[in-house]
Amino acid sequence: MNAPPHILARGVCVDFTVAGRVTRVLNDVSLSVPKGGFVSLIGPSGCGKSTLLKVLAGLLPPTAGDVSVAGVTPIEAVRQRRIGIVFQEATLLPWKNALDNVALLMEVAHAGRGNDEIRGRASDMLRLVGLERAAEKRPAQLSGGMRQRVSIARALALDPEVLMMDEPFGALDAITREEMSDFLLGIWERTKKTIVLVTHSIDEAAFLSREVHVMASNPARIIEALPIGLPYPRNEESYAAPEFARATARLRRLLKEGHRQAIAA
Ligand SMILES: Nc1ncnc2c1ncn2[C@@H]1O[C@H](COP(=O)(O)OP(=O)(O)O)[C@@H](O)[C@H]1O
Ligand SMILES: [Mg+2]
Repeated sequence: MNAPPHILARGVCVDFTVAGRVTRVLNDVSLSVPKGGFVSLIGPSGCGKSTLLKVLAGLLPPTAGDVSVAGVTPIEAVRQRRIGIVFQEATLLPWKNALDNVALLMEVAHAGRGNDEIRGRASDMLRLVGLERAAEKRPAQLSGGMRQRVSIARALALDPEVLMMDEPFGALDAITREEMSDFLLGIWERTKKTIVLVTHSIDEAAFLSREVHVMASNPARIIEALPIGLPYPRNEESYAAPEFARATARLRRLLKEGHRQAIAA
């Protein structure tokens, strides 16, 4: 028997009202992600990727439709600390060092829990992201990739079952981005989290994910859920595999089609 999906969205619609005018931003979006899955959402900028992620992460109530995460509503899943979120900007506190930034959410969540325990876990998380030697450094002393790893460590510190990431590597240069992709795959393989990643990079989506959901705009909807048949663990050789070429060509075609439809609409 199949396990129930870890994340399930059915018929999700989102309307925004701007200056009295109602615009449908997401239309009838459905998706499901199995436990331990790695799914990417890809689409042109402004198509509604962040909006969809916010709905899945309980940050925005949908106008219509149902969402469940680990069998409960996203808001309840957030309350139970089952969802960790990473944004494009690392959103670290500039006056706190890396260790204290990682400890921050735990201090809020586990008020009353011992300080040593929290700091111990914060250092474990820094080790997990390969930054144990940067514990004392403040955000300004870290590179963009390191700052983003601190925010991933912060999200993992509460041991969420689901990690939702909104273009976490969007602000990084191409080489650092690929390093971060390798790094994220390593974390995923070790921690067995369910990951939903928003990206606008075709290569990143194909390299990382088990399945890529392609979105088109006006109003945003999912036009295809493309399974990526590359075996894990994936590495530099995966980029040269025929399956990688097939998947990226298909993604490119779908994105172009979606774009043409949006212009014609
Ligand atoms: N709070 C909001 N109020 C009104 N319109 C919004 C709001 N948030 C996003 N939008 C609009 O919804 C559309 C999708 O935005 P977004 O989800 O951020 O796209 P993406 O992440 O794919 O770039 C855009 O047209 C954007 O202007
Ligand atoms: Mg966005």
